[in-house]
Amino acid sequence: MSPPAPRVFPPTLADLETAAQRVASPAAWAYLAHGAGAEHTMRANAEAWTRWHLRPRVLRDVGTVDVTTTLLGTPVATPVVIAPTAMHRFVHDEGERATARAAARCGALYVVSMAATTSIEDVAAAAPDGPRWAQMYMLRDRGRTRALAERAGAAGYHAVVVSVDGGAVHRRARLGAGLVPPGDFRFPNLAAPDEADRSDLMAMASDFDPTVTFADLARFGEWSGLPVVVKGVMRGDDARACLDHGAAAVAVSNHGGRTLDGLAATADVLPEVVDAVGDRAEVYVDGGIRSGVDVLRARCLGARAVMVGRPVLWGLALDGEAGAAGVLEHLTEELARAMAMCGFATLAPGPDGPGPDALRHHA
Ligand SMILES: Cc1cc2nc3c(=O)[nH]c(=O)nc-3n(C[C@H](O)[C@H](O)[C@H](O)COP(=O)(O)O)c2cc1C
Repeated sequence: MSPPAPRVFPPTLADLETAAQRVASPAAWAYLAHGAGAEHTMRANAEAWTRWHLRPRVLRDVGTVDVTTTLLGTPVATPVVIAPTAMHRFVHDEGERATARAAARCGALYVVSMAATTSIEDVAAAAPDGPRWAQMYMLRDRGRTRALAERAGAAGYHAVVVSVDGGAVHRRARLGAGLVPPGDFRFPNLAAPDEADRSDLMAMASDFDPTVTFADLARFGEWSGLPVVVKGVMRGDDARACLDHGAAAVAVSNHGGRTLDGLAATADVLPEVVDAVGDRAEVYVDGGIRSGVDVLRARCLGARAVMVGRPVLWGLALDGEAGAAGVLEHLTEELARAMAMCGFATLAPGPDGPGPDALRHHA
């Protein structure tokens, strides 16, 4: 018998979404696809990017286009980052290990979720050379939070990403009665120091500490010994306050429209945050990035990198490591083509690099 033919990566991410839905279980699909409420914010995220129209520059030497950059000093082959998303084993048996290998193979940064179905140590072992950050929430049980931050430092992660968007406080119509992950799932990153792992994700969600404030950000740095990135910032004044309290960078995010329907689209608030931060720190953005043109738009608006959530899960669902890598390659190739078309040979900031001048906003 001949070996199975390799899967062909679909021509667009929209085709990938359709293909992934066919192979994912209905429960997994409901979980990854949905947004909060009537999903206005989820849709607005993607639409808002398309209102920024590119003004191409011609007759620039784009014989070689370089998409490499650095993120908090770590070199990466692409500004496309894998956003933290929970439970990769929901869509593929190899789960986060496959995602980590895909990222490493593409030289891309992988932000591992606190609610991963693989321990952060096993993710690190699956792709020891891959650049990786560890995402976490502040839990009411600070000992548990501290234990994970310390583990991230010990396991060779390069930064801690603190999500501050109250990711659990929401109703998601498509989930009906609620999320019920398969019973054999374990959450090894949620364990207290004296437990091997945890099986109840929902308990974690109700453990989120609602009293957390800017003053607590420094704890993550102390516990882990790593720079702290704050994810979920949607305003300039908050971005400045994060930096004043020791954050190394901020990520503009509304959690992919999954928390509160009615939040602004991230593309619409990115300029305010970039303005407020100035040269003080790197700014990242996620939400509705669905093409290399979106990546270039974000970069022109001042984001150092974009994070991509659902599309990576579509790739993982369709074809494991190869599918997730396919998403990173697809977006990076489209970015390089868009840069060439717009007269940018590199992503370097400055008069010849992508900036607001390359865009016009259309209502
Ligand atoms: C299925 C799913 C699970 C997620 N889990 C987490 C998580 O554990 N921690 C977190 O900070 N963000 C989480 N997010 C939000 C993503 O990090 C990211 O902000 C969002 O997916 C970006 O939007 P996009 O899916 O349109 O690319 C999750 C998003 C999805 C779709």
